[in-house]
Amino acid sequence: MKDYNPASDLLQDRVILVTGAGDGIGRAVSLACAAHGATVVLLGKTISKLEAVYDAIEDAGGPTPAIYPMHLAGATPVDYDMLAQKLDENFGHLDGLLHNAADLPYLSRISDYDVETWMQVMQVNLNAPFLMTQACLPLLQKSADASIVFSSDAVAHHGKAYWGAYAASKAGAENLMQTLADELENSPVRVNSFDPGPTLTSLRRRIFPGENPETLKQPEAVVNDYLWLLGPDSQGSNGRSLRYETK
Ligand SMILES: NC(=O)c1ccc[n+]([C@@H]2O[C@H](COP(=O)([O-])OP(=O)(O)OC[C@H]3O[C@@H](n4cnc5c(N)ncnc54)[C@H](OP(=O)(O)O)[C@@H]3O)[C@@H](O)[C@H]2O)c1
Repeated sequence: MKDYNPASDLLQDRVILVTGAGDGIGRAVSLACAAHGATVVLLGKTISKLEAVYDAIEDAGGPTPAIYPMHLAGATPVDYDMLAQKLDENFGHLDGLLHNAADLPYLSRISDYDVETWMQVMQVNLNAPFLMTQACLPLLQKSADASIVFSSDAVAHHGKAYWGAYAASKAGAENLMQTLADELENSPVRVNSFDPGPTLTSLRRRIFPGENPETLKQPEAVVNDYLWLLGPDSQGSNGRSLRYETK
């Protein structure tokens, strides 16, 4: 994906749902998807942040997006069914689903890890993508060319001290991605993951408050990789774990 140059109409007429769309990488990808023609469903837990992204898309002249407030820590299967029903009523299909929202409250050794926090992180980072994919699959299967993308992390591939539930949930999400890709192999739905690598966002600042921000790339640096995965240029790519490549 190095030097990928997406066409300006890459995502024309596509409907793409982005979780964690109000901030960081999800925000940047949502803006880019709209700039390339997609109708973006902005899903997240802080309405004011989603509204700000909505306004930025409208101001830039992009297709009118939709806001779907949802707190993934507390959402139940009924909430996911309602989401799918609303998407069906409004669009009739779904062409892209980006599982990007993530909970990473702190780093802690396992012996000290708060049990409730563990459950919540697993709920947001692993169970929510399962529940959302299951509910949205019929809509994705109505698309001629659909793409599911998981935002991943290096710790998904190798656990590391103090990364606790976040690492375990990201490892589970990688496995979920592979299972889905295998099951959907002969369908118009492809499933891949992408690790953006260290990026200047609230999540990164929270975990490494002392880090010099100038050493990190901005979320915009990874946008083209996500566009490639969400758009038609990644057709034929299925079950792959990709990561940001430095130039
Ligand atoms: N930044 C990095 O260095 C890095 C590195 C590797 C992988 N990643 C991955 O990249 C993805 C995006 O992360 P980011 O760095 O852009 O983080 P971020 O700036 O903190 O954004 C995460 C988004 O997820 C939303 N979110 C969190 N918990 C939620 C919940 N319970 N319900 C609904 N939405 C929720 C947040 O909403 P609010 O803003 O309303 O809280 C926020 O919009 C994540 O999957 C992360 O694991 C990031």
